[in-house]
Amino acid sequence: MQFTVAVDGPAAAGKGTISKALAAKFGLAHLDTGLLYRAVGAKGGDPIEAAKSLTEADLARDDLRSQTAASAASKVAVIPEVRAALTDFQRDFAQRDGGAVLDGRDIGTVICPKAEVKLFITASAEVRAHRRWLELGGIEVEVLAEVIARDERDMNRADAPLKPAADAIVIDTSHMSIEAAIAEAAAAVAARLPA
Ligand code: DC
Repeated sequence: MQFTVAVDGPAAAGKGTISKALAAKFGLAHLDTGLLYRAVGAKGGDPIEAAKSLTEADLARDDLRSQTAASAASKVAVIPEVRAALTDFQRDFAQRDGGAVLDGRDIGTVICPKAEVKLFITASAEVRAHRRWLELGGIEVEVLAEVIARDERDMNRADAPLKPAADAIVIDTSHMSIEAAIAEAAAAVAARLPA
């Protein structure tokens, strides 16, 4: 069975949590595509070369979750050659037998425009900054400014900007419990699963 669930949206809207839950519930493989851009940013040197030569070890680095890595990821993600170098890996993953969930910024618009289900998970910048702050253990300041700066960069780049696909289901999680958000996403997937 080939079945792709594309989950896009801005930082800390709940994409990762929802994608993991969908993968577990429906037995689908899961790829967090942000990790690819984080690994390229963290590798240093020429980002295009880094994207072309990415290895499993690069993806397993401990420091990829930091705010610094997030910001570096967003900066290398504007480079079309970096995005192009990462495209085949993502498309191959999406086509694996048994189905897959991919989360990122451009999955429904560019990587998998024919995905069976497209979700766009969003939330207000304040709610997202608060969630990020909780996630980071409350140690970082100016998190709201950083989240906004990253989203602005991701939304305004020329190549594959962050935006909902025309046929995406938008879920605003600002005032939703995580359980309610997962339930809504799962209902959208269940409605399109082959019998
Ligand atoms: O999802 P994340 O926060 O780990 O993503 C980090 C950055 O990587 C994000 O700010 C923009 C970039 N990114 C992208 O351009 N396209 C994707 N599909 C995933 C991430």
